[in-house]
Amino acid sequence: MIETNQIYNMDCLDGLNKLKENSQYIDCIVTSPPYNLGGDFHTMVNGKRVTYGDYKGFKDKLKEDEYQAWQIEVLNACYDVLKDDGVMFYNHKNRIVKGTVISPFEWIHKTKFNVNQVIIMNLKSTANVDKRRFFPVYELIYVLTKEKGLKLNNHECLTDVWEVKKIPRKVSGHPATFHEEVPRRCIEASTKEGDIVLDPFLGSGTTCKVAKDLNRQYIGFDVSEEYIDLADKKIN
Ligand SMILES: C[S@@+](CC[C@H](N)C(=O)[O-])C[C@H]1O[C@@H](n2cnc3c(N)ncnc32)[C@H](O)[C@@H]1O
Repeated sequence: MIETNQIYNMDCLDGLNKLKENSQYIDCIVTSPPYNLGGDFHTMVNGKRVTYGDYKGFKDKLKEDEYQAWQIEVLNACYDVLKDDGVMFYNHKNRIVKGTVISPFEWIHKTKFNVNQVIIMNLKSTANVDKRRFFPVYELIYVLTKEKGLKLNNHECLTDVWEVKKIPRKVSGHPATFHEEVPRRCIEASTKEGDIVLDPFLGSGTTCKVAKDLNRQYIGFDVSEEYIDLADKKIN
């Protein structure tokens, strides 16, 4: 049984299947999966491309079609545990692989989800500093719903371009940490106190920490024991 207000060192598909078996339903999912870049952010040092930003205990390097099939499976498993009026905020980006842009729409449109909106996250900086192109500084948040036309609560009158800073690894101990502002906006726009928030790719635990601060219940999964320890410290 998966309990609320707990985080689990577990593959997210196993965790999501357990939630489904127990008919535990979730109000909101905020997450950012690994991007399948194997730490390759096109960073150039002295004219040579270097690998930077890899995860601990996890390679992040599948064949692209296997990666997309995995993401479809995870997204559909998230769909199955989400309440009918629930919302999933899925952070991803356009990746440049072998000189071609791959849009997350290539697999999101193959899932059961409705795409309610797309938010641009302007991070204003990047590790991707290859001078053969303009440096990409934005990422995307796909607002995914079961119901078409579901209403969010935009009480702050935010636009669909969010300016949020990156949190450096030196500060968080994790290579891809959300700024707390990201889960805060998502959770406040889609839940009320006591609701359940899930992050299937927990990382350093930002989503669950913010959910707790906002008096929501939380659940998180991560395959890395090291990141679960980091998240535990951050949440508790
Ligand atoms: C982009 S990071 C998430 C960062 C998080 N948003 C934060 O604020 O720290 C993705 C995380 O997914 C984890 N991960 C990779 N494969 C996984 C899997 N199969 N199940 C659960 N977690 C996984 C990695 O260990 C990594 O910490």
